[in-house]
Amino acid sequence: MPYRLVIASDHGGFELKFAMINYLKQQQYDIVDLGTNSSESVDYTEYAHLLSQYVLSHENTLGILICGTGIGMSLAANRHSGIRAALCTDTYMARMAREHNDANVLCMGGRVTGPGLAEHIVDTFLNTEFVGGRHLRRINQLDPTVK
Ligand code: RB5
Repeated sequence: MPYRLVIASDHGGFELKFAMINYLKQQQYDIVDLGTNSSESVDYTEYAHLLSQYVLSHENTLGILICGTGIGMSLAANRHSGIRAALCTDTYMARMAREHNDANVLCMGGRVTGPGLAEHIVDTFLNTEFVGGRHLRRINQLDPTVK
């Protein structure tokens, strides 16, 4: 597999997280699960920061973050220089997030996206490469200290 994978959620996303872990294990991916693992209320910020630090400190790693909507997770993850977290609700967004934005974190909403569509979104995200070129220039303009 080309990438190491890491996943995390809050209570609004843990059911979809479990479904994605099962799905990805069936695809022979090794995936690191940073929690949460129940419906007990937790702060999405904590999990977004944990996962972002993991992605930044491990080479060739992509992350998946799931909260109720995916919005809080993407806001929190994008506070980290070098994290490009993309909230995707369909496969076109997932493809563009990789091709044009070189996103290294996929965000989804457990209360928005069902498991069937989420599998397609994850597949697309993991199997699409960054095209570089003019998009690299724009990514460099996101944060001049990285990449
Ligand atoms: C938790 O209720 C909810 O606010 C959270 O999962 C997420 O949707 C925030 O953006």
